Amino acid sequence: MKKYFVIGNPINHSLSPKLQNYWLKKNDIDAVYDKIKLEDNEVKNFIEEIKIKKVSGCNVTIPFKKIVIPFLDNLSPEAVKTQSVNTIILDNGKLIGHNTDIAGFEKAIKKIDFEIKEKQVLILGAGGVVSSIIFALEKMHVSQINISNRTKAKAENLKTQFNNVNVVEWGFLPEFDVIINATSIGLSNEEINLDFSRVGKNKLFYDVIYNPAETNFLKKGKETGNISENGKLMFIYQAFEAFKLWHGIEPEINIDTFKLLDND
Ligand code: ATR
Repeated sequence: MKKYFVIGNPINHSLSPKLQNYWLKKNDIDAVYDKIKLEDNEVKNFIEEIKIKKVSGCNVTIPFKKIVIPFLDNLSPEAVKTQSVNTIILDNGKLIGHNTDIAGFEKAIKKIDFEIKEKQVLILGAGGVVSSIIFALEKMHVSQINISNRTKAKAENLKTQFNNVNVVEWGFLPEFDVIINATSIGLSNEEINLDFSRVGKNKLFYDVIYNPAETNFLKKGKETGNISENGKLMFIYQAFEAFKLWHGIEPEINIDTFKLLDND
């Protein structure tokens, strides 16, 4: 039986096994998908298991999306540009790193009734997933991308990959049409220390977090008359793209897929 994994640290929270196993079963594929917590020094050995076909492929999550890169033979162009890999496949004996977070974000935004083209975007945070979000936003032709991160140097660092982004001070809210919370604030009950009272209405508040389903950030967005959307669809679509890469099948996304990911 083929074995797939998601590797990360921590990994307990990951809902990838639930979703991938559901689709495997639905599509009568003889395989299992599990999560595994690794330490930094175990990543290389794990990836070698894919090369020798003991493992058939894996997803990669925080904090390994960049760490895995030196152990791979090739990267997709998107993975090169973002320096972020979330899916590894073995293709003709070669380990290939892909980034399906980009398509995940793009497809999720396209499902929302909000025209993002030519809009001003503010991203809060500069962690692992932000390069993928910037890549997708540039592909969707937004007019401007501002980034604000508590640790400014990390935001500045993204400028070396993406020349056109603009870094703004943490705590300062420039004008925006779309604001994306890509910080981990919200996973706990912590609040973002920003004053949203003057942002206006009908903007898009997007949170990469989907558990809890409504973070304080999204609540604020709603209360101030804005559209709010969590990261559930992005999560589903990145998994969809990974499934397609491994199995050559597009799994069905329907109401049951959403229910599956609701808090138990
Ligand atoms: P990593 O930074 O290791 O890639 P991540 O979960 O992808 O991890 O990113 C966490 C993001 O949330 C970072 O942008 C982090 O800001 P710093 O770069 O300053 O650490 C941000 N973050 C986490 N807690 C925060 C807080 N209390 N206030 C502001 N930003 C916070």
